[in-house]
Amino acid sequence: MERNTENYSRIDRLREEQTLPREEMGALLSSMTKEEASYLYGKASEVRDQHYGKEVFLRGLIEFTNYCRNDCLYCGIRRSNQKAQRYRLTEEEILDCCDKGYLLGFRTFVLQGGEDLYFTDEKICAIVRKIRQKHPDCAVTLSIGERPRESYEAFFEAGAERYLLRHETINPTHYKMLHPQELTIENRVRCLKDLREIGFQVGCGMMVGSPYQTLDYLLDDLYFMREFQPHMIGIGPFIPHADTPFGDRTQGGLDDTLHLLAVIRLMNPRVLLPATTALGTIHPLGREMGIQAGANVVMPNLSPTGVRGKYMLYDGKICTGDEAAECRRCMELRMEKIGFHVATARGDSLVR
Ligand code: 5AD
Ligand code: FES
Repeated sequence: MERNTENYSRIDRLREEQTLPREEMGALLSSMTKEEASYLYGKASEVRDQHYGKEVFLRGLIEFTNYCRNDCLYCGIRRSNQKAQRYRLTEEEILDCCDKGYLLGFRTFVLQGGEDLYFTDEKICAIVRKIRQKHPDCAVTLSIGERPRESYEAFFEAGAERYLLRHETINPTHYKMLHPQELTIENRVRCLKDLREIGFQVGCGMMVGSPYQTLDYLLDDLYFMREFQPHMIGIGPFIPHADTPFGDRTQGGLDDTLHLLAVIRLMNPRVLLPATTALGTIHPLGREMGIQAGANVVMPNLSPTGVRGKYMLYDGKICTGDEAAECRRCMELRMEKIGFHVATARGDSLVR
């Protein structure tokens, strides 16, 4: 049989032009052979190397509260999950994580939590200020969901410079299928735009293989992100959590996630792109494969061991028993093994 070269040509054009017509993007994503995928990963890696080389940025993730006022259908810490054992770290415990992380070479701290209004703007600002005071050479990233613009302004003023807020899906109908009715994609996008206007480096993103996701929705996400030009893009496979309405759904695919990481790199050459914990959860070498498909960030966990097992967004999450130092070392070894080096730099986005 004659070799069908259509996909190779699509990948080449995607690399040259950072985009493809919608039909061709759809055809590429739904018909890739193993060989074509390898070719795609190679191209994505070249582009990543051009901008970031073989340096992988480290972000220390501090999961500081699993209380959440929201009820996203996919999420293990949704408010209706009575089985979740709730916890909050104290300010002191959070600062302690940062100190430990600093000694381990982390220069970015990501404070992530459910939408927990116990942490008022004042409390968040106080924590951010203290981290910046103690570690002026570090960046603070917040990932605490939707708040009014004024709150975001206060966080920025306090010294937070980056904000992660996945858009989850840009299609309003799909958004409604994944979230309780009071949440809307319009408010999500409002938040993302506010954050960017205020001056944050902003991250959006979505799960791959979430319930009801179609190729069409994914294409919408890809073009939305290319247009929005985020500094960071977080994607990982959807993984069911038994105590949620989506507990018996199928998890997102490994290959699908890797294809999308590579396509996202080609569409957004300078974006910061993590190989996520969810990717590492569905395959023992998932994060390594993510890096080899064009990602350039890893986010080891810095949360105290005592609470790690409680921040369960999905089942089977890795590293819940490890100390921060172990995760750091493990990550370094994993990256060295595939010819990369973990960078102890702040790692600011090259996007604008
Ligand atoms: N599987 C995979 N990712 C999930 N997230 C939440 N629940 C799950 C799940 N079941 C992701 C969401 C959220 C991020 C913090 O974690 O995309 O934005
Ligand atoms: Fe917490 Fe969705 S369940 S943000």
